[in-house]
Amino acid sequence: MRSILVLIAAVGTQACQRERTVKHEHRRVKRQSSNVTFPPVLDTNEQVLVNSFDNASISTWSYYYTHGAHVAGTNRTMAQWTADRWAEYGFTSRLDEYYVYLNYPVSHSLLLTYPNGSMFTPSLQEEVLAVDETTSYPNRIPTFHGYSFTGNASAEYVYVGRGQQVDFNRLKALGVELEGKIAVAKYGGPFRGLKVKNAQENGMVGCVIFTDPSDDGNMTEAKGVTAYPNGPARNPTTVQRGSVQFLSIYPGDPTTPGYTSKQDSPRADKGNSVPHIPSLPISWIDAQPILEALNGYGTAGAEVNRTGWVGAIPGVNYSTGQGAGASLSMSNIMEDKYTPIWDAIGIINGTNQDEVIVIGNHRDAWIVGGAADPNSGSAVLIELAKAFGKLMETGWKPTRTIVLCSWDAEEYGLVGSTEWVEEYIPWLKTAAVSYLNIDVAVSGPLPGIAATPDLHKISTDVMKKVIYPFHGNTSRTMYDVWMEVDGEIGVLGSGSDYTSFLHRGIASIDMGAGNGPNDPVYHYHSNYDSYHWMSTFGDPGFLTHKAMGQYLTLLAYHLASDSVLPLEPADYVPELKTYLSDLNETITSSNGTLDLSTLNSAIATFTDSAQQFNALREFAISTNDTELLTVVNHKARDFSRGFTSQGGLPGREFFQNLIFAPGLDTGYAPVTYPGITESITFRDDFGAAQDWVGKTADAILVAASMLKT
Ligand SMILES: *[C@@H]1O[C@H](CO)[C@@H](O)[C@H](O)[C@H]1NC(C)=O
Ligand SMILES: *[C@@H]1O[C@H](CO)[C@@H](O)[C@H](O)[C@H]1NC(C)=O
Ligand SMILES: *[C@@H]1O[C@H](CO)[C@@H](O)[C@H](O)[C@H]1NC(C)=O
Ligand SMILES: *[C@@H]1O[C@H](CO)[C@@H](O)[C@H](O)[C@H]1NC(C)=O
Ligand SMILES: *[C@@H]1O[C@H](CO)[C@@H](O)[C@H](O)[C@H]1NC(C)=O
Ligand SMILES: *[C@@H]1O[C@H](CO)[C@@H](O)[C@H](O)[C@H]1NC(C)=O
Ligand SMILES: *[C@@H]1O[C@H](CO)[C@@H](O)[C@H](O)[C@H]1NC(C)=O
Ligand SMILES: *[C@@H]1O[C@H](CO)[C@@H](O)[C@H](O)[C@H]1NC(C)=O
Ligand SMILES: *[C@@H]1O[C@H](CO)[C@@H](O)[C@H](O)[C@H]1NC(C)=O
Ligand SMILES: *[C@@H]1O[C@H](CO)[C@@H](O)[C@H](O)[C@H]1NC(C)=O
Ligand SMILES: *[C@@H]1O[C@H](CO)[C@@H](O)[C@H](O)[C@H]1NC(C)=O
Ligand SMILES: *[C@@H]1O[C@H](CO)[C@@H](O)[C@H](O)[C@H]1NC(C)=O
Ligand SMILES: [Zn+2]
Repeated sequence: MRSILVLIAAVGTQACQRERTVKHEHRRVKRQSSNVTFPPVLDTNEQVLVNSFDNASISTWSYYYTHGAHVAGTNRTMAQWTADRWAEYGFTSRLDEYYVYLNYPVSHSLLLTYPNGSMFTPSLQEEVLAVDETTSYPNRIPTFHGYSFTGNASAEYVYVGRGQQVDFNRLKALGVELEGKIAVAKYGGPFRGLKVKNAQENGMVGCVIFTDPSDDGNMTEAKGVTAYPNGPARNPTTVQRGSVQFLSIYPGDPTTPGYTSKQDSPRADKGNSVPHIPSLPISWIDAQPILEALNGYGTAGAEVNRTGWVGAIPGVNYSTGQGAGASLSMSNIMEDKYTPIWDAIGIINGTNQDEVIVIGNHRDAWIVGGAADPNSGSAVLIELAKAFGKLMETGWKPTRTIVLCSWDAEEYGLVGSTEWVEEYIPWLKTAAVSYLNIDVAVSGPLPGIAATPDLHKISTDVMKKVIYPFHGNTSRTMYDVWMEVDGEIGVLGSGSDYTSFLHRGIASIDMGAGNGPNDPVYHYHSNYDSYHWMSTFGDPGFLTHKAMGQYLTLLAYHLASDSVLPLEPADYVPELKTYLSDLNETITSSNGTLDLSTLNSAIATFTDSAQQFNALREFAISTNDTELLTVVNHKARDFSRGFTSQGGLPGREFFQNLIFAPGLDTGYAPVTYPGITESITFRDDFGAAQDWVGKTADAILVAASMLKT
């Protein structure tokens, strides 16, 4: 669900509800280049794990997951099959069932009426392709929006760019009437549900969201590249399905905010976190006539002067469109259900059961395929279980408990993981050491990660142990390739299942290999995210799958078995300082003043406590004092709980982490010191911002007090 993609050269981490966006250089840590031994030197256990990985068996798992419908709550067989594979490799497995609100598509339609009365009917379908067998499955999934509103709308329409609040503000400044109109928005930028939310809050009555080839870099038909299935450019009929939940307000089952969804759970009004106006996703080929009809009316796209406003659909000027006289009639009928979903859970008990590593990937997909999102991750997770199975055959046992999770209903709004965390939070708060997320393990060749700062060191160290094939070159480590294509660790926003863990103060990482502007176009949430696409264009030979799987496995191995827990609290220090200077810039550009002295001094105290922690850890290691080492490891496990606040952020109680959160109007992209920053950027309320300086400083002091010796 999240998006930290990059327009220029590299790609951030992958997640299932993810889109291209501009990268914030100063929010990411640039790593130092270093001499990496090649081939990597591995100890015996690492060798067993790495050598267990087999691209042919990954391909088999991928084939299984991508040849049967598995929209949230619809394929218990696939959940059980996942649990059974893990059990075969020695994990104690089960299904955890929740009863959640979901809705499914019944029927939909869209009609464009020109001022002269003639009409155009968009197909709202993706083309069936003979070479890509799952595109013709009779039970293939219609194009629709999860959690969308059932209703009809008929009105003139306005092009609203990417549908951020700033886009709507610009339209209002240009005098465009929004009330009673239908919004036509471009994918890209903010999470799609927030586009619908913003349209709704501006009095609009419906929202149509289209894919635009401007998001495809150099891989476009306009630049002479052949479209899928005969080439790597976008198939023009591609439609991006996806949820329109208000992700930055509340993930999880919207009818059970803050508590788990069982069959008899009381249900709350879902009104605040899902739309009240209908919406539909369409392809660029369907959008073309709709946008063309606005050419020459209102303000032309080039003059609107907004980031990402003008796209690349031939013949379209991306005009705002007032006075065009064309109208749309849309209908979106959904069926509401309270229905079971299944999280597959697999456990190996560690010798220290109060220390737990959780590894998760979602299983549900918007399409029959889902070869990248999410089942590249699902295939990798089975191969990981197999590797740990092999290691256990040698007599090895993990020091810490390892829990594998195959989440259901991630796509509707991180539902399976959120309900599970809500159920197991007392245990997780005391025992969870880290949460490792792999959603889209592979949609292209470029490795990326985003993580909490305490995981930065181990997550880059382990990259040096993995051979990473890149453009046919197999003589470099993942670290070398990553340094070349990215080299910066992202900040976690939202868009995948790490969200519930991160916002309960658990160290988290998200990882995946993505596509850049010169790689084959990844057909996100489309029928063309299929096994055929993956094995032909995305990752022929499944070798990137293999490398990403080896990476995740070695990372889990070290977190689960190193006697000194490889978390580095002190690595928060430079990050907290970077976020502070970002905040300072925000304050300056808003012409306000804020007293940041308490925040400054909380960071100083944290720095001091982290140094004390390091000294104690050194002492425990040098004296081989295992009891003291346990104390130190537990401090590393626990300190980041301090960054959370029970009451959560303003207007969004779920989001408790005061250091990073998804932006209110971005959904995917992160905001740092969100309580303070958004009091300024959204409310222009410096009084509230000052209060949040205090709360944020207090949270940092709580984290510091847990580290202090
Ligand atoms: C890498 O190793 C070479 C040879 O050992 C050395 O000359 C060079 O300074 C090293 N570079 C870095 C960045 O450590
Ligand atoms: C569930 O998924 C499996 C594996 O892809 C597939 O064989 C099966 O047909 C699916 N079940 C349904 C009801 O679609
Ligand atoms: C009506 O307008 C559309 C769009 O300008 C045009 O393509 C179509 O030919 C017109 N139809 C008639 C009957 O004039
Ligand atoms: C597109 O291709 C051109 C020519 O090869 C290259 O200069 C440019 O950097 C590429 N664009 C991107 C976004 O990579
Ligand atoms: C679209 O924009 C181009 C360039 O600004 C302009 O030449 C053309 O006339 C516009 N087309 C319409 C129909 O307004
Ligand atoms: C667009 O923005 C630029 C820079 O902010 C400004 O110079 C220009 O006048 C703007 N154009 C319009 C049409 O508002
Ligand atoms: C909504 O639109 C559909 C399709 O045009 C139509 O069949 C249905 O009767 C409409 N419903 C209402 C309540 O107007
Ligand atoms: C793992 O530990 C839990 C809690 O102590 C226990 O209930 C469970 O039976 C153990 N599982 C196995 C497979 O040993
Ligand atoms: C596995 O990788 C080898 C090359 O290392 C390749 O020849 C083979 O086709 C791959 N297998 C599959 C099933 O993709
Ligand atoms: C904030 O910026 C001002 C100048 O704009 C500078 O004087 C001050 O030192 C900065 N404070 C921090 C904490 O970075
Ligand atoms: C801050 O002040 C400058 C100069 O007076 C002005 O141009 C700018 O619009 C102001 N910014 C905000 C966010 O008020
Ligand atoms: C540290 O202590 C453990 C158990 O107390 C022992 O097995 C190990 O050999 C010791 N290591 C060193 C380096 O003394
Ligand atoms: Zn996903």
